[in-house]
Amino acid sequence: MEKSPRGRKPSRTRGTHGVYRKPNPKVQTTTLWDFPSQQYGAGGQGDQDYRGATPAYVIWNLLQRYTNPGDLVVDPMCGSGTTLDVAAELGRRALGFDVAPYREDIQPADARKLPVRNDQVDFVFIDPPYSTHIEYSDDPRCIGKLDAAGPEYYAAMAVVIKEAARILKPNRYMALYCSDSYRKGKPFCPIGFELFGLLRERFEPVDIVAVTRRNRTLMRRHYHTEAEKGNYFLRGFNYLFIMHKP
Ligand SMILES: C[S@@+](CC[C@H](N)C(=O)[O-])C[C@H]1O[C@@H](n2cnc3c(N)ncnc32)[C@H](O)[C@@H]1O
Repeated sequence: MEKSPRGRKPSRTRGTHGVYRKPNPKVQTTTLWDFPSQQYGAGGQGDQDYRGATPAYVIWNLLQRYTNPGDLVVDPMCGSGTTLDVAAELGRRALGFDVAPYREDIQPADARKLPVRNDQVDFVFIDPPYSTHIEYSDDPRCIGKLDAAGPEYYAAMAVVIKEAARILKPNRYMALYCSDSYRKGKPFCPIGFELFGLLRERFEPVDIVAVTRRNRTLMRRHYHTEAEKGNYFLRGFNYLFIMHKP
């Protein structure tokens, strides 16, 4: 039986094809990352039923490479809390913020104004809304209410990135995970390239990773048929921008 890094048996999870075993997290060694499930191993990181949850193995790989036990990790847009759970499993301290806290250990705050002092944090992970694809909450501060076809989305994200740079200690790392946006009949929004431009104003690039998307939409055959007929592409990957604060 495969054992998790903490010696536990991998548990089961629900997927589009019924119940299957969640594999243990895998160290990624190229710039193309892939893993079959949102959660890994015996624990439960975040909520796999939360729309827009980050694949936990992405955060696991980042914390393994760019942090040490005891380091402080901050997720300013914490969603279902995946970062908090991965950090706890790896013995890192973590603070999670969100305008619409999903759990009690996530603090209410706007990612553009965090209650954290300057130069305090060892790693920042951000998985923001990608335009208006998901309705996260009724909170008017939610950046998921801003369409990436207009300038307001990028203006808001510029402040989120500035705030991440403010709280991060010098000579430490952060990562931003995002997807471009395309809706049938609407303009393509190259969110990844735009946000990378904003990141470069404050950080040095370390690497760019393409993370294979394995969401339920991509498993539906009719979505692929429609994409072929309509001559457009479904989003097959997310960007993971890994950055360094000089
Ligand atoms: C893609 S989800 C994050 C998913 C999360 N990493 C997880 O694994 O569950 C984006 C989150 O950003 C939050 N959000 C949107 N605007 C925000 C803002 N101005 N400040 C803080 N959080 C915000 C949303 O409420 C949502 O929970």
